[in-house]
Amino acid sequence: MTYTETDLVATIEQLAGTDLASLTQAQRDGIDQFHAGGTAAVDRLLPSLRLSPAMTVLDVGSGLGGPARQIARTTGCQVVGVDLAAGYVEAATALTDAVGLAGQARFLNTDIARLDRFDFDAACTVHTQMNVADKETFFAAIAHRLRPGARLATFEVCRVGNDDPALPLPWTIDGTDSFLATPAELMVAIEDGGFDTVEWVDETPWLVEWFQQLGARLAAGGTAATLPALLDDGPERMRNFAGALGNGTLTVHRGAFTVQR
Ligand SMILES: C[S@@+](CC[C@H](N)C(=O)[O-])C[C@H]1O[C@@H](n2cnc3c(N)ncnc32)[C@H](O)[C@@H]1O
Repeated sequence: MTYTETDLVATIEQLAGTDLASLTQAQRDGIDQFHAGGTAAVDRLLPSLRLSPAMTVLDVGSGLGGPARQIARTTGCQVVGVDLAAGYVEAATALTDAVGLAGQARFLNTDIARLDRFDFDAACTVHTQMNVADKETFFAAIAHRLRPGARLATFEVCRVGNDDPALPLPWTIDGTDSFLATPAELMVAIEDGGFDTVEWVDETPWLVEWFQQLGARLAAGGTAATLPALLDDGPERMRNFAGALGNGTLTVHRGAFTVQR
C-alpha cells in the first residue's frame, strides 16, 4: 500500500530540527509539493485557471497541501483539498495552520466521488490519476462538482509504449495501485468525463532537468528535511521516477480544460 505514512508533522519537525511554524518557505517547498517540478509546476498551471480572489478552487488529491497553499497564497482564492490519505490530510491541515492560511485553505479526508459540494469555480489535480483505474468516472466526478464553464488544470504522469517503469514509484510501492495511461488515452478520458481540451502539453524535458538539479542538491546533503526523506522508500521512488522520465518510459503532461456544461 502507498501513502500510509503517519505522524508526518513529528517526522518533519525531527528532520528539520525545528517546529513547523519556524520552517522557511524554501523548506516547506521541499517537503509539501508531492510531484515533479515543485512550485514551478504549480506556477505553470495557474494562468490557465484564470483565478480571481473571490473564487473557490477544488484540489483533487491534495496530498500534503503544497499546491493548495501555493494557490491560496498567490491568488487570494479559497482552496478546498480532498485526499484519501488521512495522514496527509492531517499534515496538510497542520502545515496550513502553521503559516496562517487556515482561513483560506482547508483539507477533507474523502474520495472525490463522495465530496458533497457542487459549486467550485475551478479545479486542479496534480499527479493523482495514476492511482485511479476508471479515469473517465474520476474526471466526471470532478466535472460534476464545478460550476458551468469552470476550468480544470491537470499535471499528470503518463506512460509511453509498453515498458513498465521500475518500482517503487512516488505513487505506488508495489504497482498494484498504479494505472498508467498514454497521453492520448488520458486526454480522451478527461474529455469523456465532461471536459473540452484547451491545452495539452508535454512538460517532460524541463522536468528531467529539474530532477537532475534536485538529485545534485540532495547528494550535496544540504537539505535533510525533504519529501524523499519523509516518504517510505522515498529516495528510491524519486530516483525511479526521474529515471523513467529520462529514458522515455514516462511523461508528464500538463492540461487545461473547460467543463462542457
Ligand atoms: C502523488 S500524491 C500528489 C499530492 C499532491 N497533488 C501534490 O502534488 O503535492 C497523490 C495523492 O492523490 C490522492 N488520491 C488518489 N486518488 C484519490 C481520489 N479518488 N480522491 C482523493 N484523493 C485521491 C492520494 O491519496 C495521494 O495523496
